Order: sequence, then structure tokens, then C-alpha cells
Amino acid sequence: MTIKAVKSALRLAYNSQLFHRGFANVSKLQRGETPRREDIDRLQAGWGNSGWSGDSTFLQAACWLAGACNGPILECGSGLSTILISALPKLPGAALYSLEHMEEFRLKLKAELSRNKLAADVVAAPIRSYGEFDWYTIPDDLPKEFKLVICDGPPSQTRGGRYGLLPVMRERIKNALILLDDAERDDEKAIMLRWQEEFGYSVCPLHSPDGTVALMIPNSMKDAAN
Ligand SMILES: C[S@@+](CC[C@H](N)C(=O)[O-])C[C@H]1O[C@@H](n2cnc3c(N)ncnc32)[C@H](O)[C@@H]1O
Repeated sequence: MTIKAVKSALRLAYNSQLFHRGFANVSKLQRGETPRREDIDRLQAGWGNSGWSGDSTFLQAACWLAGACNGPILECGSGLSTILISALPKLPGAALYSLEHMEEFRLKLKAELSRNKLAADVVAAPIRSYGEFDWYTIPDDLPKEFKLVICDGPPSQTRGGRYGLLPVMRERIKNALILLDDAERDDEKAIMLRWQEEFGYSVCPLHSPDGTVALMIPNSMKDAAN
């Protein structure tokens, strides 16, 4: 075995330990509690998909909202966020449905969920054309109404990026909050503007040293609350 191979094996073993430690702490959380940043950092290191997994601010915000949600949750773009949300104690009815267009990632995630005895529906959702833009294929048996959307996909090279969420899912998410990751990027800013103008949403940005996430609230929900 070369020194390089030994170093790589040691790093893998160390990261795996980090993952287990982070996961063990998250599994002990009570309902309403949000994972601590150091445990999210451990899970990120252990999951080993840096550059693609949500940052700590996004993951904490996703957990905070999911923990308070009392209905189905739609996730666009699966990964570590799916594991974290699945591991949290949730309110009755808060089942997680995660759209994933890459079969390889979907199978890897399903194996990890099952290894950790977690329940989430990782939905095979190939990207398809909707005319002006591309977005996930939506199976007919997905719930008709969601209360929360965690939006971290599809990847930015998709035609139209994340825009398709509103035109495709509009009826099913009309009473849902949307947490959008990467809201500091120009593409996401343009999408948020279109969602505001075309579908009637308000934006609450949350800036952090990691980046910006945005909470999108349907104006109809705000009006009903006033
Ligand atoms: C931003 S990632 C979603 C990350 C997920 N929400 C998380 O926190 O781990 C969006 C999509 O990119 C794809 N993806 C994830 N890792 C990738 C990688 N290393 N290379 C290429 N595509 C990747 C997957 O299809 C995923 O659904």
C-alpha cells in the first residue's frame, strides 16, 4: 500500500467517524430543536460532497422549518439535507418527499437512509422539458398539497434553473413556504424576481458568511394572516 493510499484510507475512516458522531447528536434532538452547527459541520465532512451540499445556514434553516411543519414537505435536490430532515423529530403529517434526477445519487442516498433507519421518499424525477424551461418530472402519486418546499435543485446548468418550481407545482404549493438556497447568486435573484412578479411572492433574505438563503412567502398567505 502506498503512503497516499494509507492517507486516503485514514481520511475516509476519520470522516466516517465524524459523520457518525454528528448523526448520533442529531438523532438525540427533541422536537423543535435544531441541529448545532458543529454537528452539521461533522456531517458535511463525513458526507464528503462539498461544493454540492447545502451550507450550514441553509441546512439549519431547513431543519428549523421542517421541525415546525405540520404537513408534507417537498425537497428539490436531495442529499445531506434529506438525511438531516429525516433524522429530526417532526410533527404528524410532515412526511418528506425529495426529488432527485440523478439515479446514482438517489440510490446512494436511499442506501444511506436505510442504513440509518430513516424514512424519506427519494423520488426518481428525471429532468424534462416544460417548453420554456426544464424541470423535474412529477409522478402522479405525489401529495396534492405541500406545506413547505426546500429548494436546492435542480442544478444551475438546467435550462431555467429552479424557476420551474412555481409554474409546475403552483397548485400543490400555494399554501407552502419556500426555502431557497443560493439566493445570493444572480440566477437565483432573477428567479426570485420572476416568482414575485408572476406568482405573487414576498422574499425574506437571510444573509450569513456562508451565503444567502431566502424564505419565499405566498402573498395570499400573508394577506390571510392580516
Ligand atoms: C445542490 S445539490 C442538492 C444538495 C442537497 N440539498 C444537500 O444539502 O446535500 C442539487 C443536485 O445536484 C446533484 N449533485 C449532487 N452532488 C453532485 C456532484 N458531486 N456532482 C454532480 N451533481 C451533483 C444532485 O442531483 C442533487 O440533487
